[in-house]
Amino acid sequence: MAIRPIVLHPDPRLKKRCDPVGTVDDGIRALVADMFDTMYDAPGIGLAAPQIGVLARVLVMDCAKTDEEEPEPIAMIDPEILWESEDTNVHEEGCLSIPEEFNDVERPAQVRVAYTDAEGERREMDCDGLVATCVQHEIDHLNGKLFIDHLGPMKRQMITGRMKKRKRERASDKAKA
Ligand code: NI
Repeated sequence: MAIRPIVLHPDPRLKKRCDPVGTVDDGIRALVADMFDTMYDAPGIGLAAPQIGVLARVLVMDCAKTDEEEPEPIAMIDPEILWESEDTNVHEEGCLSIPEEFNDVERPAQVRVAYTDAEGERREMDCDGLVATCVQHEIDHLNGKLFIDHLGPMKRQMITGRMKKRKRERASDKAKA
């Protein structure tokens, strides 16, 4: 298991539609383990494979609200939204690929998701609250979509501009070190 570097926006790998996995093998289970390590280390509540540069339809999340709560790790392979509610929720979202940026995003309040678990079993899960927001955010990643794509073009351009600057600063800090 290993912590992998997180791909930062803007990056072409975050704009791609990821490939279905199909059969879950040891390679996919190793990927899931690395994704959990990377997510908990960040720390974050969700991570999609393209965020570590792997263009496969795999996501992990853990929306346990506080450190005192039991962890609730969920890995989803080839997830699909089967149903979404008409009523919506607004949550302030952030993203490990867009650090330091947070914005309100409106999404369906409840969704039903089908997915394959790490044992290769096909399952369904009804999601609401933070879990519903998180799973939709991560599935968006698998379709090359970021939470800032839900915002207006002005906001999106401002955030992308700030991210380009941050990436330049990180690159020159690394060169100095
Ligand atoms: Ni994200």
